[in-house]
Amino acid sequence: MYFSVRRFVMSFFLLCAVFYGQSVTASTDSDAVLIVAFGTSVDKARGAYSNIEKQIRAAYPDKELRWAWTAKSLIETNSRSKTALSTQEALAKLAAEGVKDVSILSLHIIPGAEYNDLLQTARAFEGLPKGLRRVRVAPPLLYDTAGLRSVARLLVRNMPPERKKDEAVLFVGHGSPHPSGVYYPALQYYLQNLDENALVGTIEGDLDFETVLSGMKARGVRKVWLAPLMTVAGDHASNDLFGSGADSWRQSFIANGIQVQNIPKGIGEYPAFVEQWLSGLKKLSEQK
Ligand code: CO
Repeated sequence: MYFSVRRFVMSFFLLCAVFYGQSVTASTDSDAVLIVAFGTSVDKARGAYSNIEKQIRAAYPDKELRWAWTAKSLIETNSRSKTALSTQEALAKLAAEGVKDVSILSLHIIPGAEYNDLLQTARAFEGLPKGLRRVRVAPPLLYDTAGLRSVARLLVRNMPPERKKDEAVLFVGHGSPHPSGVYYPALQYYLQNLDENALVGTIEGDLDFETVLSGMKARGVRKVWLAPLMTVAGDHASNDLFGSGADSWRQSFIANGIQVQNIPKGIGEYPAFVEQWLSGLKKLSEQK
């Protein structure tokens, strides 16, 4: 009897030690999470950023969370409010505060120019005397084939239930002249495997309005559900996609006899996509 009580007490203390050890590793794994996004000039999109922050906060309740924007012009126009720092400014501030380890959550869609600049900045800040010991960067939304497949699945799963099979759903991304612009046609491939009327377009680059329109005409599509494939529905969404000007995608479809339903919601407004970004961040902390 005495023996088993002693064993029970011993295993209780052992368990405590294990849990204590785990909680210690978890909190030292990274001193701060820096959320880096392109930035926006639109108020509603800023609201979307704060919802993203809430979700990240829930996943990392004990971490210091900071923001940085990569669009220089947007930081300058926002300098009065002092809410937007560049990545360099945010990293320098963290280093000055004595933080040693930073994990960067990049809210970019593809590993394009902005993302590659971010990698370069992170490398430059790592290992400076009395500075940050480690600066790791999580992948953007579209990165490896498994990620492309799961993003395609999430896009299909989040389509409006009222949409009928013969109606197109078009996700329009920013597009890029960077080699990573190929991620858009790559996503188109995985999407099409799931739903033949799920299409990808880009504001800049090869999947432009004319290309998408001819694809729709070939399919005999009469109606399209139009959605931004961007982190937040900011300036490009409200002007280039849904704008009332004759050259917006919405007006151009209407001019071509195709009915349009707006889905004015950024990718970051769906918790499932934020979860996808977060899974990249979680993988970073697994690789010690
Ligand atoms: Co742009």
